Amino acid sequence: MTKVLITGGAGFIGSNFIRLLCRERDYAVLNLDALTYAGNLESLKDVEGDPKYSFLRADIADAEAVEEVFASAKPDLVVHFAAESHVDRSVLDATAFVRTNVLGTQVLLDASRRHAVRRFVHVSTDEVYGSLGAEGKFSEVSPIRPNSPYSASKAGSDFLVRAAFHTHGFETLITRCSNNYGPYQFPEKLIPLMILNAIEGKELPVYGDGRNVRDWIHVEDHNRAVLRVLEEGRPGEVYNIGGNSERENLEVVNAILEAVGASSDLIRFVKDRPGHDRRYAIDATKIREELGWEPSRGFEEGLAATVEWYRENLSWCERVRSGAYREYYDRQYGDRLS
Ligand code: NAD
Ligand code: TYD
Repeated sequence: MTKVLITGGAGFIGSNFIRLLCRERDYAVLNLDALTYAGNLESLKDVEGDPKYSFLRADIADAEAVEEVFASAKPDLVVHFAAESHVDRSVLDATAFVRTNVLGTQVLLDASRRHAVRRFVHVSTDEVYGSLGAEGKFSEVSPIRPNSPYSASKAGSDFLVRAAFHTHGFETLITRCSNNYGPYQFPEKLIPLMILNAIEGKELPVYGDGRNVRDWIHVEDHNRAVLRVLEEGRPGEVYNIGGNSERENLEVVNAILEAVGASSDLIRFVKDRPGHDRRYAIDATKIREELGWEPSRGFEEGLAATVEWYRENLSWCERVRSGAYREYYDRQYGDRLS
């Protein structure tokens, strides 16, 4: 049986990817995750009993620990999701972003080459391209111009993955996706944070004028694209992934308030994020034409289902909001909300 090692499988996108693999494929699935504040095995309760699935706790920046995992597990394929992923945290302190996203990626590339991994998919972000004005979209040949410490560290990892292909002939592929939403997203990112605050009648902190634009995609559509790239992508290539759903933040927040049945009086405009990228939009022509992938979920339908999921999983939300999360939340919003 082909063995796939998933890094960051206890996080939002990785846990949904593991669920998809267990449901629809016959791979042995190994989840390698350090279980940081963002990693939660409760997100994988439904696959725990699956004999194809196993979990190994390791820090990807710890070369010895990673070597041990690769020596014992001998994966055939690697899909690399593990990262520090939240822009606001990277503004407060970029250290962990450089360590995990840059160093950790190189450690994984080295171990993968040493242990003859056949193919390595690096899951990256459209944020490496920087910010757009009112017009245009990011394509795979857009210049790399990251603006936040998060996106700069992801761009660094993209370059290392590219170099492993060009220098060592190691079969790597890169995906760059727009903003994801869906079940099991940690409630510090826009959509789950706003859903929970609306349900709980708390203030909804909107940065700046609320007119920044993100191009939203349901996590399952993203993961189906990553799977397509893993199974059919051309080595050395970059594939953009997007949901064709550009929305201003205020539109998203108002749609959430409506779905929850809460009042728009909860909206609070707060001080803007430093260096806040204005607009992201993805041109996903390449993956559509080469690999036949297209997103299947409309944003309004996907958002309504996501609001429902959070309503029905409030106990999951309570448990993931650990002490560490609450401390971060206070630092981030303490002096910005009344
Ligand atoms: P997440 O923060 O929910 O999960 C990250 C996971 O990585 C967690 O399980 C965490 O425990 C693990 N991790 C962190 N540091 C680690 C380390 N040193 N060693 C091992 N594991 C570690 O992130 P996500 O939203 O699921 O994003 C997954 C990937 O997709 C990231 O690489 C991110 O850059 C990329 N991406 C995310 C989005 C999005 O909208 N969320 C969009 C495009 C790309
Ligand atoms: P986020 O979910 O952090 O994703 P990213 O910054 O990687 O795009 O934020 C999405 C958008 O929502 C972004 O423009 C910042 C904005 N935002 C708020 O207005 N308030 C918030 O509390 C958060 C977390 C984000």
